[in-house]
Amino acid sequence: MKKILFIITGSIAASRCEEIMNMLLNNNIKISCILTEEAKRYLKISHIKKIVKNRFFTDSSERRNKMLHINLSRENDMIVVCPATANSIAKFANGFGDNLASNTLLASNKKILFVPAMNSFMWHNKINKKNVRLLKNNGNEFIGPRIGNLKCGEYGLGRIDDSKNIANRIINRLENINLLKNKKCLVTAGPTIEMIDPVRFISNQSSGKQGYEIASQLVLHGAKVILISGPTNLDPPPNLKFIQIKSADEMYEKIKKISKIDIGIFTAAVSDFKNKNINKSKIKKNKKLNISLSKNIDILEKIGKSKTQRPKFLVGFAAETGGVNNAKKKLLNKKCDMIVYNKIHDKNKVFGSDYNQISIITKNQIKKFKKMTKVNCAKQIIKQIYNTI
Ligand SMILES: Cc1cc2nc3c(=O)[nH]c(=O)nc-3n(C[C@H](O)[C@H](O)[C@H](O)COP(=O)(O)O)c2cc1C
Repeated sequence: MKKILFIITGSIAASRCEEIMNMLLNNNIKISCILTEEAKRYLKISHIKKIVKNRFFTDSSERRNKMLHINLSRENDMIVVCPATANSIAKFANGFGDNLASNTLLASNKKILFVPAMNSFMWHNKINKKNVRLLKNNGNEFIGPRIGNLKCGEYGLGRIDDSKNIANRIINRLENINLLKNKKCLVTAGPTIEMIDPVRFISNQSSGKQGYEIASQLVLHGAKVILISGPTNLDPPPNLKFIQIKSADEMYEKIKKISKIDIGIFTAAVSDFKNKNINKSKIKKNKKLNISLSKNIDILEKIGKSKTQRPKFLVGFAAETGGVNNAKKKLLNKKCDMIVYNKIHDKNKVFGSDYNQISIITKNQIKKFKKMTKVNCAKQIIKQIYNTI
């Protein structure tokens, strides 16, 4: 049985929750509910309590259970904020936690759906728009709003979506939520660095952001995730096993120790070359520098061709200045199931950016995507993986 946490905030559209919740109950979904203080004004609390039985919480509930804002997201498969006020959207977008609802959202490790309802000018307000964009860019989903007659007597965009639409979208998202439950996933990310002497190295511009976002999204999809990363400025995402390495050889050694991987997503920008002989002491600057490079290990190819180490599903990355054909060659040569290709050019500054423009290449098709945040690229990549496996 799937479980959702239904957060009701103080919009006049809160009166619609009963109907939506009943539709979810009829689909065998277990509902827990948080009501903000403002929301209490717009619905019949006794009716909601009847629907959710004892799983009904308000700000005062946390006096009895100090970790409620953590437990409620851990115990449920997904969170729906319905209706979502401009106020609660603003709080979450800006990291405020001053009631049970906002603290639970901040502490959430689950997918969050927002169902906004408000006056049209409120919806179009530039600050509200900015908050909504921020949340969407962070991978949160919105259902509605719609255009129509508003409860305040005005007409415009801001009306809560149809109850049936809302319930169907929630049901659909819940069906997908744990598709990767307990799948063992390995993600590699960041650059590798190849030492020249004890202080200098050669490397590349990879920031690791795309790989970290993929690892985070896999966790949200219920997967067991191992993230092997070269040096980056990023904090390791929560709820996964994090392994730090420096060189390509170190990365390969760590990968070899992991068996029975279901899905391997190799985003790391492994240095193509390494220094043949690492100087034991720092090379003096008055000396002529003569570095002799040799070809580095090709981890993707080694793993792709390995009978024992290859994940059941292997995804490689190709950040290239060349065309899509190079990426397609990589798919075949390195025995991958999927290649995520991003063309590096002036308009797609991949390295360090929060945005990316990708194409997903499998044996039978090439899917091109518009430029979007790396979070949303990660979601698309995962969607394509579970559509293919
Ligand atoms: C009668 C009335 C109706 C309201 N309806 C809405 C609404 O539909 N959407 C909205 O964003 N805010 C609405 N508000 C404003 C919110 O109730 C207010 O911002 C409140 O602080 C929200 O608190 P919450 O987000 O903690 O529930 C309404 C206020 C009143 C007095």
